[in-house]
Amino acid sequence: MDEGPLFRPKIGLDHGTVTHKITTGKKMECTFNALTRQIQEEIRLRGPISFARFMELALYAPGLGYYERRREIGRGGDFFTSVSVGPLFGQLLAFQFAQWMDADCPNGGIQFLEAGPHNGMLASDILAWTSRHRPDLLARLEYCLLEASPARRAWQEETLRSWLPNVRWASSMEACGWRQMNGIIFSNEFLDAWPVHRLAWCAARRQWQEACVTVEDAVFAWAWRPPAAEWTGHLPQVPAELAEVLPDGFKVEVCPAAAAWWRAAASSLRRGKLLTMDYGLTDGEWFQPGRAQGTLRAFTRHHASADLLSQPGEQDLTAHVNFSALMEAGQAAGLRTEGLAPQSKFLTEILARTRLAPESFEPWNEKRTRQFQTLAHPEHLGHKFQVLVQAR
Ligand SMILES: C[S@@+](CC[C@H](N)C(=O)[O-])C[C@H]1O[C@@H](n2cnc3c(N)ncnc32)[C@H](O)[C@@H]1O
Repeated sequence: MDEGPLFRPKIGLDHGTVTHKITTGKKMECTFNALTRQIQEEIRLRGPISFARFMELALYAPGLGYYERRREIGRGGDFFTSVSVGPLFGQLLAFQFAQWMDADCPNGGIQFLEAGPHNGMLASDILAWTSRHRPDLLARLEYCLLEASPARRAWQEETLRSWLPNVRWASSMEACGWRQMNGIIFSNEFLDAWPVHRLAWCAARRQWQEACVTVEDAVFAWAWRPPAAEWTGHLPQVPAELAEVLPDGFKVEVCPAAAAWWRAAASSLRRGKLLTMDYGLTDGEWFQPGRAQGTLRAFTRHHASADLLSQPGEQDLTAHVNFSALMEAGQAAGLRTEGLAPQSKFLTEILARTRLAPESFEPWNEKRTRQFQTLAHPEHLGHKFQVLVQAR
């Protein structure tokens, strides 16, 4: 279960905050960014921290975390999302949402709740289509962006300047106050950005060990300990035949908080849909030989890396979503699963229905056709992403 070489923060990581030079016992000199210093200070005070805590700070530490400072997604950012491909994704979703609402909630007020709205582009695309093609629906729609960070909320307000009368913000499901909503709760690449616990299989003891982050010679290093008692109920079950052969050090990630969020979202839906679009796996898919190192990745400038501990705040960290856990959580709250399908299939079916109502969709041109190919082609985003839809 040796993690290999220590990961060293690179020189020159500072992003406009105070830099700090230290000299270690080995006479090594590093320049640390402010977030590296903050995390190292927490480890000094508390001892090794779980990887989930490291990831939480790396992505969301106020003012310093990756998602606190990186507004751009797409060509000029570190990765693409379907939203960043262009407005077509939001337009297709809006068309689908309108059809769902016509069937499920034909009268009275409806609510859309978007989680993980980042820079507000998806909301803008959905509202623009709805305003152009379904003003009747817009007139009874409240749109809420779920956002806890003041920095990201400011980006969203800027993008949605012309939609401010139609939108509102809430920092959490509870703060939103929609306990019995009629409408749609949705997200794109939201739950893959939640801090995960990282586990490695100890073949000798046939037990999971949890990855922690410590500091050695002034750089972050891995340490392993038994999983914390409060979430041992969420450890992946390893059947006896698999335990015989599962290699030492085989890694998986678990995110009990994501399933808890999904269940809370499901509970607040009186009538409508709960859906998410993301990369992820179902139960049987985690233990495949090609996944021995787990699904966690770091992303910078469109390059994936396994170097998870370097440059906190400077690179994205992401892990696959556990769709089985989400389905179970939604079903436990009374939802029925309508489908888990590749994005290619989901969007192609919507596209086919837009063809039956050409007046309610923008005409096709080369640019839009290219966007559709990127969203749906198996070699681009079409197979990598899945769409989970549950309903009540
Ligand atoms: C990969 S980005 C996707 C952004 C956008 N949905 C898109 O598709 O382009 C993940 C987003 O989820 C947000 N996020 C993660 N956890 C969150 C939480 N608990 N509350 C609100 N946003 C969260 C991050 O801040 C980030 O903006």
